[in-house]
Amino acid sequence: MRPPGTPPQKIALPHIKYVVAVASGKGGVGKSTVAVNLALALAGEGRRRVGLVDADVYGPSLPIMLGTDARPRVGPDKRIHPLERYGIKLMSMGFFLDEQSPVIWRGPIVMGIVRQFLRDVEWGELDLLVVDLPPGTGDAPLTLVQQVPVAGAVVVTTPQDVALLDVGRGMAMFAQVSTPVLGVVENMSGYLCPRCGTEDPIFGRGGADALAARFGVPVLARIPLVPALREGGDAGRPLVAAQPEHPASRLFAALAGRVADALAAPA
Ligand SMILES: Nc1ncnc2c1ncn2[C@@H]1O[C@H](COP(=O)(O)OP(=O)(O)O)[C@@H](O)[C@H]1O
Ligand SMILES: [Mg+2]
Repeated sequence: MRPPGTPPQKIALPHIKYVVAVASGKGGVGKSTVAVNLALALAGEGRRRVGLVDADVYGPSLPIMLGTDARPRVGPDKRIHPLERYGIKLMSMGFFLDEQSPVIWRGPIVMGIVRQFLRDVEWGELDLLVVDLPPGTGDAPLTLVQQVPVAGAVVVTTPQDVALLDVGRGMAMFAQVSTPVLGVVENMSGYLCPRCGTEDPIFGRGGADALAARFGVPVLARIPLVPALREGGDAGRPLVAAQPEHPASRLFAALAGRVADALAAPA
């Protein structure tokens, strides 16, 4: 046990250029949808080598969203081999659980699992590893951002929750551990009508701008409510992979460009 107050040691990940954390103040805002489609957009059909870790062990959603529940292979050297879908490498607790398994682990156990996902998984050389963090600012996400060498965080909010205390707490958590927040993604930002193509700001506008301004970070993307995004997630065929030319996929491509630029920019 380390004495209280000492920051935990960061896990060394020499073969991974950048770790990007996708965070949210609370669950259900589309954190995993953004993490998956951002990871695919970053991979950009093979331009970058990308991995995706589902660190939200309480609500692992990558197996469904990416349409695979195969069990990762463990080599004779005890190294875990990540699954591969749509050109990106994946690891999720969901690959090791069945629907009936209760998930009641506390922070330290979650960290043990994620530590294994980072250290004992044969990622190979990666340009980027996207980490879908547990929601909120509890024990599990905090320990993770303390121990994982996160190059930058992307905070996902909806227009309804930007005003909530949770989002501000999430921002403060990254400041506390000196992790740069690359910016905010406003998800479910209005409704894009699939028939007429017009966008209706049903939840109002401006919330994410105010939040971003308050913390001195940019709004990296606004992703509207798009039925095809949910359908793609439910069907295991994420929109960015299934329909790269879809208007929402283009928004993710632009988001990926901004994230990559922000990471490459000198701090
Ligand atoms: N922009 C969007 N348009 C339509 N549906 C969305 C959008 N973002 C997320 N969803 C849907 O909302 C639900 C919650 O999203 P999810 O990514 O699982 O959230 P979280 O990981 O924050 O809990 C899912 O059914 C998902 O398909
Ligand atoms: Mg999720």
